[in-house]
Amino acid sequence: MSYIESALQERRSFPPAAEFQGHANVSGLDAYRALCAQAESNHEAFWADLARRHIDWHTAFTHILDESDAPFYRWFDDGQLNVSYNCIDRHLPVRADQAALIFEADDGGGYQLSYRQLHEQVGALSNALKMHGIAPGDRVVIYMPMSPQAVIAMQACARIGAIHSVVFGGFSAKSLAERIADTQAKLVITADGGFRGGKTVPLKAVVDEALQQPGTDAVGKVIVYRRASNEIAWHAERDIWWHDCVAGMSTVCEPVWMNAEDPLFILYTSGSTGKPKGVQHSSAGYLLGAILSMLWVFDARPDSDVYWCTADVGWITGHTYVAYGPLALGMTQVIFEGVPTYPDAGRFWRMIQQYRVTTFYTAPTAIRSLIKLGGDLPEQYDLSSLRLLGTVGEPINPQAWMWFYQTVGGSRCPIADTWWQTETGSHMIAPLPGAVAAKPGSCTLPLPGIMTDIVDELGGKLTGDQGGYLIIKRPFPSLLRTLWNDPERFKQVYFPAELGGKTYLTGDSAHRDEDGYYWIMGRIDDVLNVSGHRLGTMEIESALAAHPQVAEAAVVGKPHDIKGEAIVAFVVLKIPCPEGEAASEIAADLRNWIAKQIGAIAKPDEIRFGDNLPKTRSGKIMRRLLRSLARGAEIDQDISTLENPAILQQLNATS
Ligand code: WTA
Repeated sequence: MSYIESALQERRSFPPAAEFQGHANVSGLDAYRALCAQAESNHEAFWADLARRHIDWHTAFTHILDESDAPFYRWFDDGQLNVSYNCIDRHLPVRADQAALIFEADDGGGYQLSYRQLHEQVGALSNALKMHGIAPGDRVVIYMPMSPQAVIAMQACARIGAIHSVVFGGFSAKSLAERIADTQAKLVITADGGFRGGKTVPLKAVVDEALQQPGTDAVGKVIVYRRASNEIAWHAERDIWWHDCVAGMSTVCEPVWMNAEDPLFILYTSGSTGKPKGVQHSSAGYLLGAILSMLWVFDARPDSDVYWCTADVGWITGHTYVAYGPLALGMTQVIFEGVPTYPDAGRFWRMIQQYRVTTFYTAPTAIRSLIKLGGDLPEQYDLSSLRLLGTVGEPINPQAWMWFYQTVGGSRCPIADTWWQTETGSHMIAPLPGAVAAKPGSCTLPLPGIMTDIVDELGGKLTGDQGGYLIIKRPFPSLLRTLWNDPERFKQVYFPAELGGKTYLTGDSAHRDEDGYYWIMGRIDDVLNVSGHRLGTMEIESALAAHPQVAEAAVVGKPHDIKGEAIVAFVVLKIPCPEGEAASEIAADLRNWIAKQIGAIAKPDEIRFGDNLPKTRSGKIMRRLLRSLARGAEIDQDISTLENPAILQQLNATS
């Protein structure tokens, strides 16, 4: 891939500025190394000490790590806490009037909520959820626009011990229904609609459609936040307006003390089969990872920072670095409903100027598209409040990194390129910005206590800067606990027997340079990374195969300037292979079909039709060949095992 090539040539190094290092939470490489050494010498004591210092416990834990049922690790499992208490209540003595959330709406309007107001609103919704029969352990699905209410809904679930599963607002009714069915949710929280880039996004209508699908009968109530005032259908016995259900509720709701290991949430993510995986996180371990990475990687200073993470709450980044981490630290943060390009590509920069944002965390794909739309726009704004930048979701190419560093950060702000996953819950490999020099394109070094390594497929050690499987050798608190309803898949996917059954296999490949810096090379499974979002090729393939006209389909990725990866689908129809106009029409139909089956984010960028797919004589689709075809590369693979070589020419043509 192009980024790997350019990254390999990258030699520049950017040490922390003396001024930044002087004030940093972890100051200087020696301080970082000392933390790592502590973790190495006594892994459990290291985590236990941090858990005692950074979490307010209702009942102190006495067990640290229980490995008896590995890989189902348990941390701090006789301790009791409440995550919402840790995110809100504990700040009230000193931060009641400090802004917790600064909301900017799509149209530029907005408002702020102080920690006191957040406490009241979470309390009222928590009481309403209880009144509607939601008890600890019940599942609540949240399908909301990016808004303070989405955060309030998540916090309210955490407060009463309900397990939330947030579904990104861009997912289709079918995807939503699958998640509702898999979790057996009793209640759905949604909005009538949301606004993005000046357009209304219908949400309630999607919920209505989802709830007509089989398996969703456990849902008794739908709470609807009025946001867009768009026209919606109403089911009086089931639907309740948010404002009605909190009206008259007490704003005080005692937190329910939960066990450290009780699940906080389930978040679905793509894997290498057709069925998304319900990643299940714990309460205490997850919270600890969120807190420590805020302190270490984002150098959090709650008294003076204005923090802004642009991720939607529908993704893990919006969980850890919007809904939980910043609040657990008592930060002031910006929440943005809209898109970076509306009304123009200066939106982010204007907001940074307006709110005096200090810490700005976004995705390489957004950076690349903003460079393209207006690389010199940041210069028109006062971005002097910024002190730290971060990226997440995919490797950042050195050119985009340099632009972010110079044009946005004024060559003053460190950039934390944060490598982590839905499954790891919090940052795993990222520079501690006052300690570790950055290199454009590298996520640098693991966080203290995170024992990463690179091995071959049998777990053998690799030397030099050979690329291999990225693994994490020791358990750590914020790691997923299991896959909801599927512990076997959890073991097989993440703790394969080939690696001994106790080592976490990340699914990424990486190599290390002479300084021990990690460079992520990409996924080792059939998962694509499109605009920083994970999409399983199998998921798209099975959605295509469900179309009445499709006989067979194979999906691969190809490099894309802005999105990182683009989706290319090779499709065999039940009718003769179409050409010209007819091919474009069917392709358009299939794209819409995918939007309905999964969501618009999974629409293929390109669809190519053929009479067949390239297969080996044993019938296996030759994906590597398809990848070469997709990127228009010379076919340098051995095609002697190919059953039907003539197919290559046909598939080479784009429709
Ligand atoms: C990729 C997002 C390179 C990686 C937090 C990982 C990255 C997947 C980076 C997880 C990064 C994430 N550099 N690649 N800084 N961050 N990835 O679960 O392939 O949506 O496995 O979590 O994104 O995506 P997920």
